[in-house]
Amino acid sequence: MIRKAVVPMAGLGTRLYPVGVVLPKGLTPFVLADGRLTTGLQLITETLLEAGIEQIGIVVSPENRPIYEAFLAGGGERYAPARAKRLEMQSTYESLQRLRRHLTFIEQSELLGLGHAVWCARHFAGGDPVLVLLGDHIPLPLGDPAPIQQIMRLYERHQAPVYSVHRVPVSKASLYGVLQGEPTGEPRVYRLLQLYEKPTPDYAHRCLRTAGLAPEEFLAHSGAYGFPSALWEVQAQIAAEYDPTQGEWTLTHAQQRLLQQMPAYLCETEPPWLDFGTAQEYRRAFCYLAGCADV
Ligand code: G1P
Repeated sequence: MIRKAVVPMAGLGTRLYPVGVVLPKGLTPFVLADGRLTTGLQLITETLLEAGIEQIGIVVSPENRPIYEAFLAGGGERYAPARAKRLEMQSTYESLQRLRRHLTFIEQSELLGLGHAVWCARHFAGGDPVLVLLGDHIPLPLGDPAPIQQIMRLYERHQAPVYSVHRVPVSKASLYGVLQGEPTGEPRVYRLLQLYEKPTPDYAHRCLRTAGLAPEEFLAHSGAYGFPSALWEVQAQIAAEYDPTQGEWTLTHAQQRLLQQMPAYLCETEPPWLDFGTAQEYRRAFCYLAGCADV
């Protein structure tokens, strides 16, 4: 059973520069259609808990850790008089305290890549299977645990890696880890054949086509990864061999090695999850969550 999730949130936030310098990615604010103010951290972790995850490791930079902790502390004693006067503040404070009981902050002091961020969570994971959720992707439909539970159930059934995917046009293939799948007969579930981090359009066309998709469509990661315990063994091998001069330590390295040992499955998320990592995507996500635009 997957009971733990790891959410990498330590990036420098260069794509939201200069706001990202002082505002940790997970604290990016959103106003929902009902007027409620929330953040990426709350939207992601509340859905994970709703889905049945019990412990969540948030990977953060050492610089940002105190900011996240202050946020979850909800202003402590200093804000107590204000909370006593405003009921909605008090209920937000209580929901933060509930969240706080399930969260562990994990430091990533060198930003070597997504694979390294997950490696930083190895003590938190203690060798257990984990669900990795990208820290700048909000699962949709909003607040609905069903898509995450579907990944957890597929994992249970196959005891093998399960990755959430969405369809992207070939023009965007170079922004994603692209996965070639073969249909399994079950709607929106594929068996993974191979994957490649940020391919050129030409490479995608030649090597990564998935049967049944339009010629210009490809499957790309949409934000969730269900990993078996074997992840930690392959990550340990990668850590031992890793040479920073050879480029980024992506998570794709571990996924490729796991694929040599066992099958893996892809689960298409519909609607595609909301990425808020760049200014354009943030605008789109904000408008959608505020109820002003379609996905
Ligand atoms: C990361 C992953 C990539 C995935 C993408 C989704 O890349 O490495 O495989 O498709 O997130 O947004 P990043 O966007 O952090 O460069």
